[in-house]
Amino acid sequence: MTEQHREIDVLLDEQRTFEPSADFVAAAHVGDRGPYDEAGRDREAYWEAWARRLDWFTPWDTVLEWDPPFSKWFVGGTLNAAYNCLDRHLQARGSKTALIWEGEPGDVRRYTYRELHEEVCRFANALKGLGVGKGDRVAIYLPMVPEAAVAMLACARIGAPHSVVFGGFSPQSLRDRIEDAHATCVITADGGYRRGGIIPLKASTDAAIEGLDYVNSVVVVRRSAVTDPRAAPHGDAVDTPSCDMTAGRDHWYHDLIAAADADFPAEPMDSEDLLYILYTSGTTGKPKGVMHTTGGYMTHVTATAKWVFDLREDDIYWCTADVGWVTGHSYIVYGPLSNGATVVMYEGSPDWPDRGRFWELCERYAVTVFYTAPTAIRAFMRWGDDWPAGYDLSALRLLGTVGEPINPEAWVWYDRHIGGGRCPIVDTWWQTETGGIMITPLPGAITTKPGTATVPFPGIEAAILDEEGNPAESGYLAITSPWPGMLRGVWGDEERYRETYWSKWPDIYFPGDGARVDEDGYYWIMGRVDDVLNVAGHRIGTMEVESALVDHGAVAEAAVVGRSDEIKGQAVAAFVSVVEGTETSEALRQELRGHVAAQIGAIARPADLIFAAELPKTRSGKIMRRLLRDVAEGRALGDTTTLADPAVVRSLQQQFADSEA
Ligand code: PRX
Repeated sequence: MTEQHREIDVLLDEQRTFEPSADFVAAAHVGDRGPYDEAGRDREAYWEAWARRLDWFTPWDTVLEWDPPFSKWFVGGTLNAAYNCLDRHLQARGSKTALIWEGEPGDVRRYTYRELHEEVCRFANALKGLGVGKGDRVAIYLPMVPEAAVAMLACARIGAPHSVVFGGFSPQSLRDRIEDAHATCVITADGGYRRGGIIPLKASTDAAIEGLDYVNSVVVVRRSAVTDPRAAPHGDAVDTPSCDMTAGRDHWYHDLIAAADADFPAEPMDSEDLLYILYTSGTTGKPKGVMHTTGGYMTHVTATAKWVFDLREDDIYWCTADVGWVTGHSYIVYGPLSNGATVVMYEGSPDWPDRGRFWELCERYAVTVFYTAPTAIRAFMRWGDDWPAGYDLSALRLLGTVGEPINPEAWVWYDRHIGGGRCPIVDTWWQTETGGIMITPLPGAITTKPGTATVPFPGIEAAILDEEGNPAESGYLAITSPWPGMLRGVWGDEERYRETYWSKWPDIYFPGDGARVDEDGYYWIMGRVDDVLNVAGHRIGTMEVESALVDHGAVAEAAVVGRSDEIKGQAVAAFVSVVEGTETSEALRQELRGHVAAQIGAIARPADLIFAAELPKTRSGKIMRRLLRDVAEGRALGDTTTLADPAVVRSLQQQFADSEA
């Protein structure tokens, strides 16, 4: 047994407990399990109590209408998400810091709740001036700058659903999303800093919207050069990224803000009005637009942000996600701000200018609650203990992880080297589709164990089922009753919504994850059971990568699988057969990898690309991915009896072994 494994065993035996939050204790009037029992007795009344903690313009008549697979929450109520994140705090917390932002070059900006409110109102007026109205879709393609949060909240204030597109996505991916949602306005920036370089987002936007004449306005945030060395302690003064502005269509954000009125009453939105669309990868076809509405979503993220992160008035809360992902939506913007928290936001890379950057930020802002992904933790582990040891992390009191299963080794390292052995770790399982956290410990109330997300949040009902829907110890994770933050559909594709999530078992939500339950009733998430990869916490559909590959003229056929990766959890492995007469070469291999990155985004670039004379197929012509996974993992082949030509896969194995050597 290694030292690390001994530590894990000790932790498992330790049954560590932490002080529960005062808020949870107050709710736990029936003893420690209070809210769990309470929600179990009357789930709707429990969620209704959370909804009451929001500010509504008009109250709801009915808590839940469940017409499977469609749910409506707080039916008849009206509210506004931006109002709940900003206006309702103005009296008690107007001068409290809402946002502390640090750019990668080291420039810093802070907004109080009052300042953030004013900026959001001004931008809402500006957008309205550009013709954006209630119900219009707005695409947001920004780096991690404060304006990303401002843009989201301004859209919410108007009632214009936003569709945030991760800044690392390619022009083609942005175009696909703009087209699918028929967005008429795009908010972007001249550029964003990443590892000292500039990502030219405006140029990508121009390419993305070429010929889309319904996109009638583009707002451009100037992520200006940091030329003042005091504002750029790392000395990364970089010139203003230049970008072309198309007269009549393109507007500088700062010009619009300067000219806009600071008063904008928040639009009363129906509880079931669309708040946003967020695209995520699935098994088939192009990414699908997951729809989230207002009342239920806000209730869910407010409740979970409050209890999972045990948010207190003086917390400095930092979630390292990008606003382009759901974690950024729910736990940088809507959840924490709805709770009146102080949120830290950082633009750049964790290893810029050196590998201590995150810990430097934690020290500088005295971060108390820190939420990140296992892939990041594994990278920190590899970078060595000295980096975090060089900084004062004593303000930290709670740690979280999300995005993929966390291996116990990483959990223990996080606990020891970041949490100093004193911080509870909340391993939170959820998805773009669930809107908010679903399975998680509550710090203080649920004893944690390394590697498990523990139990469903109070008010969430889950189970492990087999193919037929019978309870099992190990099988598929299932969500057995509707929850407030659940997706309301797939934009423009009801059939896909039914098919993807609700067709496995009647009226039960299928998330696509395998899981098992242990003797304490804790859930251990085992990863995706479908053709969706999880690379560094990012969801990538194998089909998307295959389509990008066959889009290249040299490719005849492509099959993509995931293989395990020490840091990223999974990596993309592609098997490609080329069109007849094409010479395979190292140059072509690199070209194809680059082609995928250009088509989708760098996150989808295949780690391995193996040229295959033929792909292994069954006699009926189906590609046997299972065998390709065996090849990519470098392990013994499973059953090959159904293969049309067993020699095909043996030659692939040989090639793979050669390429690794
Ligand atoms: O496989 C699960 C994994 O991430 C998937 C959801 O990805 P996405 O929609 O991009 O959202 C990520 C952030 C919420 C899930 O189906 N996943 C997420 N959190 C965990 C996890 N797997 C294990 N443990 C987790 N804590």
